[in-house]
Amino acid sequence: MTLWGGRFSEPSDADLRALNDSIGFDRRMYRQDIRGSMAYARAITRAGILTDAEAQTIIDGLERVLAEFEGGTFVLQVGDEDIHTAVERRLTELVGAVAGRLHTGRSRNDQVATDFRLWVMDALREIDARAQTLQAALLEQAERHVTTLMPGYTHLQPAQPITAAHWLLSFFWMLARDRERLADTYRRTAVSPLGSGALAGTPLAIDRAALANELGLHSHSQNSLDSVSDRDFAVESLFTFALLGTHLSRLGEDIILYSNPQFGYITLNDRYSTGSSLMPQKRNADPMELARGKAGRLIGHLAGLLATLKGLPSSYNKDLQEDKERVFDAVDTLNVLLPVVTAIINTLKLNPERMRAALTDDMLATDLADYLVRKGMPFREAHHVVGGAVRVAAEQGVTLSVLSLETLQALSPLFGADVRAVFDFDASVARRSADGGTAPDAVRRQIAAAHDALAGQLAQ
Ligand code: ARG
Repeated sequence: MTLWGGRFSEPSDADLRALNDSIGFDRRMYRQDIRGSMAYARAITRAGILTDAEAQTIIDGLERVLAEFEGGTFVLQVGDEDIHTAVERRLTELVGAVAGRLHTGRSRNDQVATDFRLWVMDALREIDARAQTLQAALLEQAERHVTTLMPGYTHLQPAQPITAAHWLLSFFWMLARDRERLADTYRRTAVSPLGSGALAGTPLAIDRAALANELGLHSHSQNSLDSVSDRDFAVESLFTFALLGTHLSRLGEDIILYSNPQFGYITLNDRYSTGSSLMPQKRNADPMELARGKAGRLIGHLAGLLATLKGLPSSYNKDLQEDKERVFDAVDTLNVLLPVVTAIINTLKLNPERMRAALTDDMLATDLADYLVRKGMPFREAHHVVGGAVRVAAEQGVTLSVLSLETLQALSPLFGADVRAVFDFDASVARRSADGGTAPDAVRRQIAAAHDALAGQLAQ
C-alpha cells in the first residue's frame, strides 16, 4: 500500500514503481529521516497535535525502526517507495494507528529536503576532516624539504629553480580554499525547510526555530515555495567536491610526471604503486591516474545537477529526486580517494639528488638578467641581452655558465668578473625571499602560516 493511495482505484504498475521508487538509494538517509521525525514529533506535540503519551509512543517506535536499520534487520516491502514511506510503514506496524498522526502538517517535500541537508552536513564534515589530513601530510613532507631544490616549470618547460617544500605547499593552499568552501557551503546547508509543508507552509503552530535548533540546524527557511525545492546546498557541495577533485587531479598529474624514471624526482611507495601484467619493469602510479580520472566524474555530477535544476517550475517537482545519487556518489568517490592520496603523500620518497641533477644553467637566465638590472640596465634590455647569451651558448654547444667573460662582455660591457656568482642555484632560490616566494626563509614563514590555516575543523 502506498501512502497516497486514497484517490486511486488501482494499485500502481510495477514498471511505474521501478521508475518512481527511490528507496534503492535514499535508504542511506534512514538516520537523518528518523532523527527528523523524532524532532518533528516533539514539535507537533508542543503545538498541541500529539499528546505527550502519543509522542512518546511514536518516538519509542522510531527508536525501534532505527535499531532495525542499524542491525540490518529492516525488511523492505513492495510499496516502500522511499525512505520516508518505509519508515512510516514500519512505524505503523510497530505502534499502530497513532503513527498516522506523525505526518500531520508535514509533506515528504519538506521532509526530504530536511533529510538531505542533514545528510550533506555530515558528509561535508567528513570530507573536511579528510582534506585536513591530506593537508597535514603535505605540510609534514614540506617541512622535510625546505632546502631541497628542484626545477620549477611553466608550460611544463624548465623555468626556475624552486624548493620542493614550495611545490608541495602549493597544494596545501588549494586544499585550504577547498576547506573554506566546505565551511561556507555548510553554513548555507544548515537551514531547516521543515515546517514548509508541501509548498505553502504549515497551518500548525510549530516553532520552526526551535525545531531547526533541535536538529542542529542554524536557522529555518523564510519562504516555503523556495525551501521545498532549494537544492543550492547540493549544487554548492558538488561544486566544492568537483574543485577539490580538480586539485587532486593536478597533484596526481605532478606525481605521475615526477615519478616517471625520466624525471625520477620522487618514488611512490610499493604499497601505492601498481605493476603491469605484461611489462615486468613497470611501476605505475595508477592511484594518481584515478585521482586525475575521478575529477571528470565529480565535474559531471555538478553539471548534471545543474541541468536537472535549470528551468524547473516553482516548488517541488519529482525531477528533484535526481539530486541525491550524484551527491552520494561524489561523497563516496572522495571518501575512497582522499585516504589513498594522503597515504601516497605520507609515504612519498623525494629524491633530492635527482632533483638537483635536473637543474640546468638556463634556469638561471632570469637571474643573469637580474644581475644586469642590478648594474643599472632596464629589465627589458637585460632580457634581450641574456637572450643573446642563451643563443650564443646554444651555437657554441655549451651551457650559459661556460660562456667566457669576453663573450659576455661582447654582449654587454656591464658584465664583470662577479657574474660567476650568478650561477648558484641555492643563491638564486634564496633571493626569492619576499612573502610567498620559494626561498627557504620565505617557505619557513609559509609553513608557520600553514600551521595556522590547518588548525580548526568544520564546526558542528
Ligand atoms: N523520494 C522523493 C525525493 O527524493 C521524496 C519526495 C517525494 N515527494 C512527492 N511529492 N512525491 O524527492
